[in-house]
Amino acid sequence: MQVTVLADAEVVAAAAAERLLQDRRGSDQLPLGLATGRTMVPVYAALRRRFDRLSGPEQQAIRQGWRSFNLDEYLGLGPSDPRSFAAFMAEQLQGPLGLAPIQVQLPDGLAVDSQQEAGRYLEALTAAGGIGLQLLGLGSNGHVGFNEPPCGPEAPSRCLALSAATLAQNAAAFGGDAAAVPHQAITLGLAEILSAERILLVVTGSAKAQILRRALLEPPCPQVPASWLQGHPRLEVLVDGAGAAALPPDLTCRFAKA
Ligand code: GLP
Repeated sequence: MQVTVLADAEVVAAAAAERLLQDRRGSDQLPLGLATGRTMVPVYAALRRRFDRLSGPEQQAIRQGWRSFNLDEYLGLGPSDPRSFAAFMAEQLQGPLGLAPIQVQLPDGLAVDSQQEAGRYLEALTAAGGIGLQLLGLGSNGHVGFNEPPCGPEAPSRCLALSAATLAQNAAAFGGDAAAVPHQAITLGLAEILSAERILLVVTGSAKAQILRRALLEPPCPQVPASWLQGHPRLEVLVDGAGAAALPPDLTCRFAKA
């Protein structure tokens, strides 16, 4: 595991965007795994700025090779609903980068049979070769994707009920009303996340400091789903100073600190 502490959320976003772009320029063209949430807004903004500075042929090469699979989607929300993750991705990346909608995959929140859709989505990901670089945010209750606690490392792609903590965390996008947040979602499982070749966990803000400490330092357990990431051979964590506040100073011996 490599933990890099950077000054603030903007610097973290720039570093994360750089890694995403490097991945897309590389010869390893396995799909990217992408995430949503407020943490990713500055990351995708930084990615768009970097993309805009590339030459026409460089942009075209990235467009041609782009394949990404998002982690999750709310049940009952489709791309035409601005609160859906599909709409978020269309606005943040697919439209601005000039990608075809099919290049940016998400689970279909409007599928009639949501468990079947979770299986179909996993099959599509498997057929594409699985995830190369997986971008992750961190839920305030330790979830990754929508893998809510308790959750073991073998959890598969599925439809599940969201916790009260997650409904509260994500209420802002629903007029501040936790009851208005869809109560179910389709998510890739920890099994698929842990199968990625590389994982990039991005954490910013003091509200995540304690859960990040638990995720990185406590023995892996179902109550903190992100703690299973510790077992991944190529995990990089980018965190700002506020998010790293609960990490003990001696971590600097074990982890890179920039
Ligand atoms: C959401 C998403 C996660 C995201 C996390 C953090 O519910 N399902 O993929 O990483 O929670 O969200 P935020 O960045 O808004 O704190």
